[in-house]
Amino acid sequence: MFDKDVYVRRRRTLLERMSSIPEGRRGIAAFLGNAEAPQNYRGNDYRFRQDSTFLYFWGIDEPCFAAILDLDSGEECIYGNDTDIDDIIWMGPQPDVAGKAERIGVSCSAQYADFDKAVRAARSQGRTVHFLPASRYYNTLKMASLLEVPAECIRKVAPVAGGHGCCGKAVSASEELVKAVISMRLIKEECEIEEIDKACDIGYLMHTEARRGCRPGAREQDIVGRMEGITISKGWGVSFTTILSQNGETLHNHSHGQIITPGRMLLIDAGAESNSHYASDFTRTYPCSGKFTQKQKDIYDIVESANELAFSLAKPGVTYRQVHLAVARHILEGLSGLKLVRGDVDEMVAAGIAGLFMPHGLGHNMGLDVHDMEDLGEDYVGYDEDQKRASQPGLGSLRMARRLQPGHVVTDEPGIYFIPALIRKWKMEGTGRDFVNYSALESYHDFGGIRLEDDVLITSDGARRPGSRRLPIKSSEIEEIMEKEREIL
Ligand code: GLY
Repeated sequence: MFDKDVYVRRRRTLLERMSSIPEGRRGIAAFLGNAEAPQNYRGNDYRFRQDSTFLYFWGIDEPCFAAILDLDSGEECIYGNDTDIDDIIWMGPQPDVAGKAERIGVSCSAQYADFDKAVRAARSQGRTVHFLPASRYYNTLKMASLLEVPAECIRKVAPVAGGHGCCGKAVSASEELVKAVISMRLIKEECEIEEIDKACDIGYLMHTEARRGCRPGAREQDIVGRMEGITISKGWGVSFTTILSQNGETLHNHSHGQIITPGRMLLIDAGAESNSHYASDFTRTYPCSGKFTQKQKDIYDIVESANELAFSLAKPGVTYRQVHLAVARHILEGLSGLKLVRGDVDEMVAAGIAGLFMPHGLGHNMGLDVHDMEDLGEDYVGYDEDQKRASQPGLGSLRMARRLQPGHVVTDEPGIYFIPALIRKWKMEGTGRDFVNYSALESYHDFGGIRLEDDVLITSDGARRPGSRRLPIKSSEIEEIMEKEREIL
């Protein structure tokens, strides 16, 4: 948790940003923190994770809190339940709601059920209720019930101050609030950058442990357990479900049942959350034998230089779409050198041929969420009036296309994958037939995939990689360090 002043300032800024709505039409902004979510029976809950926007403005990292910011008067109130004797028996003594509110600079506090009354009262007075699309179903259903609209209205984002909305009622998640929140959370403050640095340092240790564990005969699951143990002991836990597999061509592979086998590669995409819930997200791909085959190295070096190229281009004023397209071009040039594609590189970029090999975008925003704020709408976060989403393979999947500004934190994660089903589909449909050397690709069907990911903070004059150390990435460095580590252990 940050100092009280941080939360007070953020709420003042939000109030200012919402003040473009004409007076009298502003209404209230209602914020719901998360509730507990049972794994199976009530009382055996998943580990509690607070809603990130609630954390950002209200800081309280506990279940069943809510808050209201009155956009006309500037008054604010925190809602939660004081503990009773039963809670104290099971969870120990806790500060009361007023004490928790005071800690974040809020002088009004009330019980959780009073939040419902306050929202209903605002509605009955004809005031606009601004709220965000909830990532959790419980909160979606709670807002739907409070506002007496179907749940789909609660998930849909639309301008609400002018009385629009969905389902024939002036109710939906508020585009005005979504845009204001995103405009703030996209630009990381110094205290947030310190947390991201911490998360990256934990991520470094996780990946180092994983690389050391990557040796023939080891079980993928053992490596996952060892690396996740590090983030639990040093931070809050993983920032997303660990992706670790020798089938790296499956972009998000969460099955870890295989034995590390010489000749294959192990793709590890994993990150940590700091205790304040800021994320890191790194990917490395290792040769299971400790040395790359020439065929693996040829592809690896293209991906590694693409990662470096993206970092060198990322600076204020450049759009991340431009960086993605430069990477797409670089990958196609590399594959052209290996005779896997042929023809004019610019024509290939324009035709989206890179999407056969890298079907995802170059990166996403990162902060309190590993895909920061995508619960508020991917297009609201990664796009704006300046940048609209494309439909091309690869580029169409880009989650962050905006013009970069100091304080943005994005991932730089190029990859090359040989996905047999996708190659067969393109070939059968005749897609890219003028450019793709489908017969040469036959011998790559069992290659797997390579992705190399770092996190990048945009600074006033360029960029830096958060964290105090960068994971080794060059193929020569990887081979050298793996050889040394195998001698020691
Ligand atoms: N690194 C995991 C993801 O971006 O979804």
